[in-house]
Amino acid sequence: MALDRFHAQGPVTASAGGSAPRARPEVEALVAYSAPLEGRRGLLRLDFNENTVGPSPLVVEAIRAIPADHYAIYPEYDGLREAVVASLGGTGLSPGHIGLFNGVDDALHAIFHAFAAPGDRLLTTSPTFGYYTPCARMQGMTIEAIPYRSPDFAFPFNEIRAALDAGPPARILLVCNPNNPTGTRLAPERILELAAAAPTTLVVVDELYEAFSGDSVLPLLQQRLPQTPSTAVTSGDGAFAAVPNLLVLRSLAKTAGLAGLRIGFAIGAPALVERVGRVCGPYDVNSFAVTAAHAALADQAYVDGYVAEVRRARDWLLERLRAAGVRHHADGGNYLLLWPQGPTAEVEARLRQAGILVRSMAGKPLIDGALRVSIGTTPQMECFWQAYRAIEQLS
Ligand SMILES: Cc1ncc(COP(=O)(O)O)c(C=O)c1O
Repeated sequence: MALDRFHAQGPVTASAGGSAPRARPEVEALVAYSAPLEGRRGLLRLDFNENTVGPSPLVVEAIRAIPADHYAIYPEYDGLREAVVASLGGTGLSPGHIGLFNGVDDALHAIFHAFAAPGDRLLTTSPTFGYYTPCARMQGMTIEAIPYRSPDFAFPFNEIRAALDAGPPARILLVCNPNNPTGTRLAPERILELAAAAPTTLVVVDELYEAFSGDSVLPLLQQRLPQTPSTAVTSGDGAFAAVPNLLVLRSLAKTAGLAGLRIGFAIGAPALVERVGRVCGPYDVNSFAVTAAHAALADQAYVDGYVAEVRRARDWLLERLRAAGVRHHADGGNYLLLWPQGPTAEVEARLRQAGILVRSMAGKPLIDGALRVSIGTTPQMECFWQAYRAIEQLS
């Protein structure tokens, strides 16, 4: 059974709660987001789109070098925002454009906490990353999730555009680009179009997987800046001057291999980033994550090498899936969807018996019955394919 830190005994029911104080009505109605995260070590983990080989050796070295007495000191963030700006090329960005969080999940939580009130509209797509819904529900928001277009899960641009124009302005528009789990890519130009069309809506683009396809709004915003001798920004909105309502989310979890350390960034106009930061504690991001982030950002070559290997492994697997006639869907991101011939739960269980974890999409609109398979290295995908072929009796 999957246990998480709040539900070791399963969710507390109303009667089991006895006379414990009730939470806000929105929280009483909430089902916590829990994921099957236990007992995964030692298995081939193709279930959470994590980096499957671990971080740069420089990260390991940096963490080992932390003196024990430093554990006793609250974290220092000096220089980390500057390092993020440098990793993004610097143009049109200042440290004030960068918010530091315990992963993108924490950034999402803070964004909803800071901006959303009961009855506000969240506009997003479906199916998409599962944590958006509880974040909206805990604030009492109304959720409008517009389905991707069948049969190829294309982005429902016109529908989103129409929904932005209809009714009271959406409080938040959340676009996952590329989308987890469909891989759907939306051209960055179109995201800027949406942000410009809805200036009173906070437009959040979750770019967790952008490294695998290169679709990011950031280079586009930076290119659009008027060319001046110095492109560095010390004050003002800089690259976000035309879209002060846009926030971009990035993480070192999936590409740099720091998922366990929890570090992510929200990038946008300083006034927006500062507002999100108001709902966070002063030491929320821990010093191990800070040290690891410095080292990971300094070794971009390692990340680039990993991304290139994932892309090779993806092509290798796609060729096998096509040749064997397996129904599948792959677009952006380090993952793909496939539809087994046999009962999905059984195929998932048999893969687990073979030491391989994948994620069932059971219950997700449009993709119920699919398995999401994360892409790792070519030898790891060979291992997956060998097991899958045997289970599905493919030639
Ligand atoms: C689209 C998307 N956003 C955010 C997250 C969470 O990222 P982090 O580990 O940085 O909190 C995930 C994790 O799977 C994800 O798929």
